[in-house]
Amino acid sequence: MEIKDWQRSSLLSLEELTAEEIECILCQAFKFKEELSNPRRQTDHLKGKRVVNLFLEPSTRTRIAFEIAAKSLSADVISISGKSSSLTKGETLKDTALNIQALGADLIVVRHSSPGSPLFLSRTIDVPIINAGDGAHEHPSQGLLDIFTLRENIGNLMGRKITILGDILFSRVARSNLWGLKKLGAEVTLAGPSTLVPRQFEEMGARVSHDLKESLADADAVMLLRIQHERQSSSHFPSLSEYTKMFGLNEARSKWLKPNALILHPGPINRGVEIDSELADSNRAVILDQVKNGIAVRMAILYLCAQNSGGLIKND
Ligand code: CP
Repeated sequence: MEIKDWQRSSLLSLEELTAEEIECILCQAFKFKEELSNPRRQTDHLKGKRVVNLFLEPSTRTRIAFEIAAKSLSADVISISGKSSSLTKGETLKDTALNIQALGADLIVVRHSSPGSPLFLSRTIDVPIINAGDGAHEHPSQGLLDIFTLRENIGNLMGRKITILGDILFSRVARSNLWGLKKLGAEVTLAGPSTLVPRQFEEMGARVSHDLKESLADADAVMLLRIQHERQSSSHFPSLSEYTKMFGLNEARSKWLKPNALILHPGPINRGVEIDSELADSNRAVILDQVKNGIAVRMAILYLCAQNSGGLIKND
């Protein structure tokens, strides 16, 4: 699929994308990464356009990366958080979005605790919506940057074995990765305690494992996920220390991995819980590469979606 064939103006999930569309985003992200690497420079693709970052849940990586990505495309960027918005005064999400539209936004990047809120906004206003994480539903830009980082390190993902380990039940990252990786032909194992990795995930094409050693043995890469306390109303395991004892990745257990298996983590890391510090900082971890790649991937997303919102300014 060529860039000119890209049809979407919003990016709501990886479930809705075809393999060709995922490849198209990755291809454009590789171009941006190369273009911007040395010396660091701006492109004019979104010059004069307004990108509004509406983050109604906490974020470090995603919000900053979207901001840098939009600025690298020469867009004007306005970032607002839940606490600083009039949502705290009782305004609805719909009214907030209608007002942001009236103020002339050309793209809105939204993070919200409710699954489906980006879809709702995309049906409510005429501004392209980029999902930056909606509850436990999806985090498509994170899934794409994870896939980008895997491709950089291990190449074609067809038949590759990727294990995602941790709190799968409450993870939008796990769901986006599962959809994206499966579409590119990878075999995905979801691993962790049975309370956090129910068998229902098999219906989405995943292999489910509650045996840590077995889930690590043949993996080409393992992605650790933190326990998402903010989404859990009751405890899904006896204590954090028992979780770590059963499923935490440490130096000794890393020997169960193949010698060249990669370690990924979307962040934020809870050191000493799902992963030991030595491993998180080791050569086999590509965690900060994931963060860096988030800029080029988000540039590609903004660039492609703006293309169909009448927002693309072509560079000569
Ligand atoms: N991975 C991720 O979404 O990190 P932030 O919550 O810091 O954006």
